[in-house]
Formats: sequence, structure tokens, C-alpha cells
Amino acid sequence: MAHLGLVGIGVMGGAFALNLAEKGHDVSLLDRSAEKMAKVVAESDGLAGRLIACVDADAFVKSMLAPRSVLVLVPSGGPLDSVIDMLKPLLDKGDLIADLGNSNYTDTESRVAAMESVGLQFLGMGISGGAEGARNGPSIMAGGSRESWARVKGPLQDSAAKFEGDPCCDWFGPGGSGHFIKMLHNGIEYADMQLIAEAYGLMSNGLGMSAKKIGKVFQGWMDGPLNSYLIEIAAEVALAKDPKTDAAMLDVILDRAGQKGTGRWSVIEALHLGAPASMMAAAVEARNISADLETRLQMEAAFGASPKPIPKEMAPKKKTLKALEQAMVAAKVCAYAQGFEVLSRASEKFEWDLNLAAIARVWRAGCIIRSVFLDEIADVFDKGDEKHLVLSPVFQEHMKINAPALQAVASFGLINGHAVPAFAAALNYHNMRRTGRSTANMIQGLRDYFGAHTFERVDNPGEKVNGPWHD
Ligand code: 6PG
Repeated sequence: MAHLGLVGIGVMGGAFALNLAEKGHDVSLLDRSAEKMAKVVAESDGLAGRLIACVDADAFVKSMLAPRSVLVLVPSGGPLDSVIDMLKPLLDKGDLIADLGNSNYTDTESRVAAMESVGLQFLGMGISGGAEGARNGPSIMAGGSRESWARVKGPLQDSAAKFEGDPCCDWFGPGGSGHFIKMLHNGIEYADMQLIAEAYGLMSNGLGMSAKKIGKVFQGWMDGPLNSYLIEIAAEVALAKDPKTDAAMLDVILDRAGQKGTGRWSVIEALHLGAPASMMAAAVEARNISADLETRLQMEAAFGASPKPIPKEMAPKKKTLKALEQAMVAAKVCAYAQGFEVLSRASEKFEWDLNLAAIARVWRAGCIIRSVFLDEIADVFDKGDEKHLVLSPVFQEHMKINAPALQAVASFGLINGHAVPAFAAALNYHNMRRTGRSTANMIQGLRDYFGAHTFERVDNPGEKVNGPWHD
């Protein structure tokens, strides 16, 4: 008999089942495909005794000791609701369902309320790291009641990635807070990936470098502040060859990006919260535009291809590659500053009392955005410099050193016709944030002119007045 069950034995679920079993936990398995379960058990290398493959939901529930904790790793939305509907009548009061998919946090809020109203418990947990992470240690962000979390904390922390011994798995707050954090993880992931794609484009179309040479540059960046999983795999992707043609893999991959929605949701939520998220927005928009290949080809035929080689006088190669690395650092600081600002606003609005340092800590290993950089962020938040990441002494220093390179890279990219939406968004964000006297006085003047919306005077802030426009 097991205390823990896992529904959805696909690539991720199967890998996670093996991980839990390896950490000494007995797990009941349920999937529509008996074959998939049999495959996991067959490949379990001596762990088969800890895995109970069940023929149906009834057998699954009966194979577990109460109180039961059921982890569900199926696609969010309809498939998850079907699993909940199937299990609900079979479970006893006090049993727990934990959703480990990429669910929208508002759906999680509703599910927590609905399950609690019938005496069942529900946790919404983001899990990051892909199939490899699920097998060897993912990063896990949980939300729901503290009591529910206490039930699954042990096995989940055992199975999670460790950073210097600390499990990258924590509970952050009630309701949908765990899924909100995972959504923002993905929003930041989108921005990080878009920056990598733009750097690749500048090296490839701007400096005329081969995929192999670009791969070597990414490898070199692993020795500096950009050291991260995404840069590591960017090097591998750039260096890989197509087994069919022997060309660089990057040269045979169609430039049409997919997306499942978490990046877009992050931007929508940021807009609702009034928090800047221009870098995630730039990344989502770049994917949207990339997906419409047909229109891009028509526009290229009409206007000519946009990106031009960057003249050597403007950007000598060695100097430019250094500037690109520095621009990446500055832009990354902006992306994370935006991401954590969204989290902080959400925490305030929904009264989640999120611990930003703890969030940075669970992202240090196991997840897709893992990097040395997150350890620095955790330190800043631990010291209580929570308001604006960029104002903390350590990140101020990063920006002072690297922002000039961001300005140079975004500028020579744009001047030479390269689309660099994430670099430009980072630079605009930084420039707007560091401008004490902005141009919003004009906006206020216009609003007051056409709609009598009032404005404040510089010599008497706080008082709402109208202008002399219509006297
Ligand atoms: C992770 C990933 C994972 C996945 C997302 C984003 O943390 O392991 O973020 O959740 O990659 O679904 O996928 P899209 O790029 O398809 O939106």
C-alpha cells in the first residue's frame, strides 16, 4: 500500500514516479495506457517493488492508505478536470489532490475552493525542469493550504533538485500562488530565451558567424555572469549537427516558435497588476510574429530583408562580442527585476505574503531558468532590499557596468535593421526607470485638455487642478 499516487504516466509522470521511488517512496500509478505504466515499471531498475501500476481509478484509490495524496501530472484544463471528476467520488474526506501541471492560477483558486467545500484538499504546484528534471530533481513551487503542503512536503522535497543541499521545492502561499509563481518563472524563461535568440541573430546575421562559432561564444559565456542552464543548452543547440544533412541543426530548424500560454498569461497578469513586463511582452510578441511565416515572407518580398551585416567600423568583432555578453547581463537584470516586481505586486494584491528570496532560492537549481544569478537575487531579497532589485547595491553595480553595452548593442542592432525587441525593451525600461522628469507631463496635459481629467502641478503635488485650455 502507498500513501502517494501519481496520475498521468507520460514522459514527465513516468520520470517523476521513478524519482520518487528512488527516494524510498511507494507510489501507486494510474494512466489510461497500461502500456506506459508497464514500460515505467519495466525500466525501473530494481525500483519496481515501490511502483504499483493500477488497472483503474477504483483499484488506484484502494491501493493507497488514507489519508491519500494524489499527484496529477496531466495537461491543464479539460484533462485535469476529467481526472478530478473521476477521483472525487472515490476519495475520502481529507484526501488530497495536487496538480503539478501548468494550470492558470485562477483555475487553481477555483479548484482549491471547490475541493475544500466537499472536504477534500487541493494543492496547485508548478514543476519545472522538463523530463530530465522530473527524473533527477525538478524545482517545485507549491500553493494551497499549509496543512495540505505538510502532507506532501517530505516526498516532494526528497525528489526535488538541491542547491548546496537546500531542496528547490517550497510552499509559498494559499490558493493559486504556486501556479502564479510557476507562470512567472515561464514568463522570465520567455524573456531569457528571446535574449538568447536576439544575441544569436546579431552574431549570425550581423557578424556573419557560423552556428558553430556562435556555439563556442555561448560556451565561453558559461565562465562568466551568464552561467545558466539556458546558455549551456544554447551552446549545445548551436553546436549540434543535423544527422540527415550534416548542416548545423539551427540552419534546418524552421523559425516558427510555439507557445502554450504561460508567457502570455504572465504579461496579461502584469498588465492587470500595473507592473512593467515589457521584456516578457516582447518575447511573446516575437513568438507571435514568428508563427506567421507567410506574412513575413510577403513583407520581406515587399520591403527587402531587414537585418544587414553590421559594418566592422561600427562593431569590431571582438569588442562587439564582449559588448553582447555585457548587454545580455544588463538585459537579464531588467527581465528579472520586472518578473520579481510582478510577483511583489501580486503578493500585495492577493495578500499572499510571498517570500521573494525563497522564490529565487527554489529557482537556483532544477528549473529551466536556473543560474548563478538567482543566488545573488536571493541574497538581495534576504537583506530586505525588496522594493526594486536594480536599486540594490549589487544590481546597481551590474547595471552601471553593463548598461552602456546594452545601449550600444540595441542601437547598432536597430540601426542595421535587426529586430531586437527584448534588448530594446530592456534599454527602454532602464531609461524610463532612471528618468526623474519623464514626458508624462505631456500625457497629463493632453488628458486634461480633452477630458478634464486633471493634473498635479510641480509646485503643488497632491492637488488636482485643470489647465487653462478652454478659458
Ligand atoms: C519548465 C518549462 C515548461 C515548458 C512550458 C513552456 O519550467 O519546465 O517552462 O513548463 O517549457 O510549458 O512552454 P512553451 O514555450 O511551449 O510555452
